[in-house]
Amino acid sequence: MGKQTKKSGSNFGGEWTREKLTIINDYLGFYVTALSKQNVKLIYIDAFAGSGKTYLPNGDQVDGSAIISLQYDFDEYYFLEIDKERKDELEKIIKTRFPTKVDKVHIINDNCNNRLGDILNKLTIYQRGVMFLDPYALELDWSILLAASKKKILDIWYLFPLNALTRNLPKDKSYTEATSKKIDTILGTHDWEKALYKLDPQISLFDTEDYIRVNFEELVKYITNRLSSTFAYVSPRSRILKNSKNSPLFILYFMMTNNSYKAIGLGGKVVTQIFDKVDRIAKDVQNEDNTQTIHAL
Ligand SMILES: C[S@@+](CC[C@H](N)C(=O)[O-])C[C@H]1O[C@@H](n2cnc3c(N)ncnc32)[C@H](O)[C@@H]1O
Repeated sequence: MGKQTKKSGSNFGGEWTREKLTIINDYLGFYVTALSKQNVKLIYIDAFAGSGKTYLPNGDQVDGSAIISLQYDFDEYYFLEIDKERKDELEKIIKTRFPTKVDKVHIINDNCNNRLGDILNKLTIYQRGVMFLDPYALELDWSILLAASKKKILDIWYLFPLNALTRNLPKDKSYTEATSKKIDTILGTHDWEKALYKLDPQISLFDTEDYIRVNFEELVKYITNRLSSTFAYVSPRSRILKNSKNSPLFILYFMMTNNSYKAIGLGGKVVTQIFDKVDRIAKDVQNEDNTQTIHAL
């Protein structure tokens, strides 16, 4: 499918896919330039690589994260994709558009949770890299984050599945044992239960203890603290990506595993600039929308 008619204002505002791709694109550009003069091999890992292309709500087809990464000079690329058809499609695009890079690319058709441990373990201090974690829902095991943080050589962008988490954690605590185990895997602990559910201050009619889930801000704070307890650096700026109805879907976090003061200073500064840019574009789109609405009245 090619480009279809563009709806006014839908270029950016509310378009979380484009926001995330803009952010990853800008960061990879910065990263490769910043490290090009250092004597290290650069690697890019895309754990939820997709098919290489993605569609925006307005019908535009754009390059997905894996293809974006190939525009930058990494020494090695790891693309993990569980779906065979998507993996085949990605492979085809790479062969056509980046024939000279085929030798640098490892495409793995498997569950990233089963394969990333080995990939991460083999990384050495002579490598540096970026890992992008872009799941649909509750798919990334915490153990992968832990393994990455121990290696101290990766910067990580994680699109945390906020909406999937809240959908699985009903306000009245009525989740199943299987769900509880799944959340343990995603958050790497069972502490979430105590932190996210509090006794309902309203007196129950039946003299039972009723629990109620904490509010959205506290939930986000819990996830941020969880990441901060594991990583050398978690950017104080993150971005909640919302759908066109303004409901939060994901929260995009940036983490660094390298505890070098200098690396954190530079990385943190660039990430702030990137978030500022995305804010500015979203605001401009909003203003443009408002102006068009006024003219249409
Ligand atoms: C949100 S999409 C990724 C989009 C991609 N980053 C892009 O920009 O085009 C998530 C992808 O992860 C794949 N996926 C889901 N669970 C996975 C897993 N456990 N391991 C590897 N891939 C997985 C899905 O098939 C899907 O293609």
